[in-house]
Amino acid sequence: MLIKKGSKSLEEKIKELKKKRNAVILVHNYQLPEVQDIADLRGDSLELSRAAAKTDAKVIVFCGVHFMAETASILCPDKKVLMPDVNSDCPMASMITAQDLIKLKEKNPKAVVVGYVNTSAEVKAELDVCCTSTNAVSVVNAIIKDRSAFDGKDEIIFIPDKYLADFVERKTGKKLIKWNGVCPTHVKILPEDIKRERKFHPFAKVIVHPECLPSVIALADQALSTSKMCQFAKETEAKEIIIGTEVGLIYRLKLDNPDKEFYPASEAAVCPNMKRTTQEKIVWALEELKEEVKVSDEIRRRARKSIDKMLEIV
Ligand code: 13P
Ligand code: SF4
Repeated sequence: MLIKKGSKSLEEKIKELKKKRNAVILVHNYQLPEVQDIADLRGDSLELSRAAAKTDAKVIVFCGVHFMAETASILCPDKKVLMPDVNSDCPMASMITAQDLIKLKEKNPKAVVVGYVNTSAEVKAELDVCCTSTNAVSVVNAIIKDRSAFDGKDEIIFIPDKYLADFVERKTGKKLIKWNGVCPTHVKILPEDIKRERKFHPFAKVIVHPECLPSVIALADQALSTSKMCQFAKETEAKEIIIGTEVGLIYRLKLDNPDKEFYPASEAAVCPNMKRTTQEKIVWALEELKEEVKVSDEIRRRARKSIDKMLEIV
């Protein structure tokens, strides 16, 4: 197939194939602009999975990283979930395996197990409750409030991101049992980046993702998930905002708020896996109906329970 990258014909081809396959294209906020441009829906990891569960389409082209497509497949097993680049992994999700978590649970039998959505389906199958960066604090608060719903257990394991866990500890006052996982992209944002950008843009608000270093969060006005950042940008009176997350979000923020200025806290905050998906690969995925992401029934059932529990308590 010889179609020029980014050309109209490539976009038209995608439109045509989408119709033919009865497909919908879901795109994470960190994807390349050329992918965001052809999205049926852009959003954070959970928003996209929920949209997948609701759609009437038979095929879902998931433009994000592997755990996100897996989560969509867990929520809608009767649909075909495709990844245009199936090797797009989240390095943080790969920092803990189901075996690691089983061992941690054996060491801490009195702990409720909370896991970030950035985990594999096998790890989710070992959780009591899943959470996202939007609701992690509410999930932990709900567990503290109603221990009886968790067999009276009074400790909480929180995996895999130690910095998100730190953030939740500070917000809830509850000491958590943590794992040594981090996001290699968000830890590239340093306190000196925030200080420098504040100097350049003294009237700007600073918002950062809770996966950032605690020393970065301490310098920000707020720590928010990507969907909450989008909401903040719309609602704030501020005309300038410094963004401490993966740089891809800025494309969407500019589209949604043409009257405001957005500055990346650090140009180094790039997630290479989020940039693997291209329009060409989307055409290929729709033509070949590949690569399908599927979770075995046994894992899916158990992983689903942890997601349902999250939706039930927050
Ligand atoms: P969101 O759920 O906030 O979109 O975050 C996903 C992610 O991978 C953050 O790095
Ligand atoms: Fe994973 Fe970090 Fe990339 Fe998000 S930005 S997908 S947490 S590596």
